[in-house]
Amino acid sequence: KTSMKGVWRYKEIVHPVLNNNQIITKMEGDTNIYHHPKLSEYSGIKNIYMKHEGENPTGSFKDRGMTVAVSEAIRQGFKKTLCASTGNTSASAASYSAYAGIDSYVFIPSKKISKNKLLQAYSYGANIVNIDGDFDTAMSNLRETLKKRSDFYVLNSLNPWRIEGQKTIIYEIMEKMRPDFISFPAGNLGNTSAFGKALIEMKEMGMIDYVPRLIAVQAEGASPFYNYINNHEETLHPVRAETVASAIKIGNPVNYIKAKRSIEFSHGIVERVSDAEILEAKKIIDRAGIGCESASATSLAGVKKLREKGVLDASDTVVGILTGNLLKELNTDIQINMLTIDQVMS
Ligand code: F0G
Repeated sequence: KTSMKGVWRYKEIVHPVLNNNQIITKMEGDTNIYHHPKLSEYSGIKNIYMKHEGENPTGSFKDRGMTVAVSEAIRQGFKKTLCASTGNTSASAASYSAYAGIDSYVFIPSKKISKNKLLQAYSYGANIVNIDGDFDTAMSNLRETLKKRSDFYVLNSLNPWRIEGQKTIIYEIMEKMRPDFISFPAGNLGNTSAFGKALIEMKEMGMIDYVPRLIAVQAEGASPFYNYINNHEETLHPVRAETVASAIKIGNPVNYIKAKRSIEFSHGIVERVSDAEILEAKKIIDRAGIGCESASATSLAGVKKLREKGVLDASDTVVGILTGNLLKELNTDIQINMLTIDQVMS
């Protein structure tokens, strides 16, 4: 019996028609929520909590969507999966495809993504296609490929089953607490879409009597959704993305329409933070002993910024989502100041 833990505890609202024996799961979900005085002090929010999606099997929230999407791929009889990725999706897709016994193909800007995400995809046996460009190039290459090939099952978040799985992050939070705000990084806007959908459904089913406000946080150099929402633009204007947070280095997010609905329904906020703010927040999270990859730290950086602007109140309850594990970025350039034995002994 593998089905009633984590994501699959919510099977009826995630994929009701799948039989239990069709589920491909590595026990994703049921992640921990952390509280630490350093986070409160830094953000100015006493009741700030961090839900750690880096605790999932391949080290990111992607596994929640991947268990559902790969189960569906198998149900439909596909033998090959395909995704474009900044690293985490490809790591998760490669793992779940291999676990299900089918082949995976990943389109990645291999020179630009974190080396250990690339190592994950490689080790799980993915067919790696190097894209000369960035994530947005990889995504358009994927769309072109799909025009010519019908034997690939797409595992990007434009696949609705990914969204269904990622909804469970919100279900888990709302079962445990009553946050005023939920803050998270926003790149391709899969989570933004999923979180809004979860809240809409929970409200409609009478499972919640209020709706927490979503806070989607982008990196300044990759913030087309920030512009789209806050400047009330007709359509999203893609940008050439640049940020240290390689996971969210995305200039042309595919899910922006669904994401807009999420922001509107939850009276949400779209914020943006600089690379310096991201790295500073990451250090706070790391030094609190919690740890995360840099893209994830936007969730804390955004909360601090919104508190400083007076949008958030010191007494608000906020849950931040840490989307990826600290170990995802071993190649980040760091200067480690080490001590000598003599310094310690004296
Ligand atoms: N945080 C991490 C660690 C991610 O890997 C991603 C997306 C996001 C946040 C943004 O989430 O796309 O739902 O807005 N990574 C994708 C990938 C693009 O290919 O791994 P989103």
